Amino acid sequence: MIEISTSILNVEKEKAVPTFYNLEVAGTDYFHIDVMDGKFVENNTSEFMLESAMTLSHITTLGLDVHLMVENIEEYLDEYLLKTEPDIISFHIEASKTKERTMNIIQEIKENGVKVGLAINPDTSIEEIKDYLKYIHLVLVMTVVPGKGGQTLIPETINKISELKEYIYENDLDVQIEADGGINDNNIDSLKEAGIDIAVAGNYIISSENYKEKISKLK
Ligand code: DX5
Ligand code: ZN
Repeated sequence: MIEISTSILNVEKEKAVPTFYNLEVAGTDYFHIDVMDGKFVENNTSEFMLESAMTLSHITTLGLDVHLMVENIEEYLDEYLLKTEPDIISFHIEASKTKERTMNIIQEIKENGVKVGLAINPDTSIEEIKDYLKYIHLVLVMTVVPGKGGQTLIPETINKISELKEYIYENDLDVQIEADGGINDNNIDSLKEAGIDIAVAGNYIISSENYKEKISKLK
C-alpha cells in the first residue's frame, strides 16, 4: 500500500485549519508543504507555507513533507528546522548543484533528526543523484515541472521511476521513491507499477468535495 502526501499548495487560506483537519480525518499520511521562493520557480509561496507548517506542527501528529523549491536552501532549512517539526525535507539537486554543498545540506538535515529527500526535475537524469542515494531516505521525482499545482503528469517520468527503482533494487539500497505532480486515479496504477512508495496529490484531492473518497482511490 502506498502512502499519500496531500499538497496544501492550493488550500484556501481562510479555510486552512478546517481543511487540514478534514484531510487528516480523510486519511492523508503526510501534508506536502510546497515552499517556493519566486527564484528557483516563478511563484512565491513562502509566507503561507511557513504559516501552515507552523500551524500543522501544533495541530497534527501526521508527518510534514517539506518540498523546498528554493535557491537559498540553507536559509529555508534553518527557518523550517527552527519554527516547524518536519518529518521529511526535500531539496532540489538543480539548486544545490555541487557535491560538497549537497552533502553539507544532507548532513545538516540528518543532524536535526529529519529524513532527507533529494528532488529531481523531469529533465534531470537519475545519473545526477546516484552518488547520493546511500545517504538519503527518499528521491522526490517531479512528474511535472515544479512551480504550480494542477498540471498534467509528464508520462516519460514514469519510465524514469522504473529505472530508478531498478537501480535501487540492484544496488540493495534503502531509498523510497515519492512522485510529485499531476497525480490522479488515471495514472496512479502506472506509478505504483513503476515502484513508487509515496504519491503527492494536490488538485485531485483538494478540488473534490470528498477527500476520503479521493485519498482511498489513490491508495
Ligand atoms: C509543484 C509541486 C507539487 C504540486 C502537486 O511544483 O511541487 O507538489 O503542487 O499538486 P498537483 O497534484 O495539483 O499537481
Ligand atoms: Zn511538491
